[in-house]
Amino acid sequence: MRVKGKQYRTIWPDADDPRIIHIIDQRLLPHCFEIEKLTNINNFITAIADMHVRGAGLIGAAAGFAVYSILLDSKKEWKKNLEYQCRRLIKARPTATNLAWAVKRQLAGLSEITDLYQARETSFKTAIAIADEDAECCRMIGEHGSAIIEELSRKKAGDTVNILTHCNAGWLAFVDYGSATAPIYAAAARGIKVKVWVDETRPWLQGSRLTAWELSQEGIAHEIVADNTGGHLMQHRMVDMVIVGTDRTTRRGDVANKIGTYLKALAAKDNEIPFYVALPSSTFDWDISDGIRYIPIEEISADEILYIKINDADGRTIRERIAPENSKAKNYGFDVTPARLVSGLITERGVCGANETDIIRLFPEKRV
Ligand code: MRU
Repeated sequence: MRVKGKQYRTIWPDADDPRIIHIIDQRLLPHCFEIEKLTNINNFITAIADMHVRGAGLIGAAAGFAVYSILLDSKKEWKKNLEYQCRRLIKARPTATNLAWAVKRQLAGLSEITDLYQARETSFKTAIAIADEDAECCRMIGEHGSAIIEELSRKKAGDTVNILTHCNAGWLAFVDYGSATAPIYAAAARGIKVKVWVDETRPWLQGSRLTAWELSQEGIAHEIVADNTGGHLMQHRMVDMVIVGTDRTTRRGDVANKIGTYLKALAAKDNEIPFYVALPSSTFDWDISDGIRYIPIEEISADEILYIKINDADGRTIRERIAPENSKAKNYGFDVTPARLVSGLITERGVCGANETDIIRLFPEKRV
């Protein structure tokens, strides 16, 4: 990813002291680009729970490094401490499955190890592998997904392909490239004309604060729209396709993503506009089929709705109440889009239909 022309990832160990893990504090974007150092498990839990880092893939990568950090601070009874801290870590964000997936992967790699020094070394290697694989999966999603955009461009005789996205499923939500944005970046790099409609994504504004900033850094044409605009754009044929990310996808293709995604999928279906979901396989929850029933939906502080909060370029936070003093609010973080509304899943292994048979065609090792 490019920030002011310089290459970055969203998480990386310090070159001189790998016990220090660097992240970009996403709460401060787009006005402040600030790098934060995480050095212990409490730093990691706060960073994940309070959304200094966010997005399913990046939460998973951060969890990988968090396990390494737990081991650095562990002494004699290290296995006990590891289990205890991992339980705390998993609770930091319940909907994105990548968090539990990364912790599980770390624990599996450590299960036979009895020596603490060896455990530290192994968990560092696993954390690096999780981060590298996340970036590579997103790069591949870009390859597979850009073919869909290319086809649409051909059908439009080279005219601009208009893509609507919700929330931020860009490089800020992963280690690099992004899921929903990777096909857009790959298509643009091949000279295909693209324009992105960016849902502002109330209340945290992942779209207007993060996706729009990312697209600006990459030089991609875009316009921000209020969240409820998508239906209107689709009715007027101003959207050629929708691409979103996901925090958890079931084995039959139900998809949890940022609140409001379901309404976009309904509007896309009504207007016969393709609705794609891009994800690395680490976002599949292979244990569940019915997403509406079984995916846990985070409830976030009602203050996000009741107040408007801005972090300015000088690091000042401005916070004002917008709702009447006595009004309450309900803030669900995610909703579930049923598989029947999804045109296809773009994964690192290729594109498949949102149904168990086709998903298993790409991931035969997950057949039960
Ligand atoms: O609450 P957030 O900002 O972590 O939610 C992020 C999203 O909903 C993304 O669309 C999702 O993680 C898919 S891309 C990793």
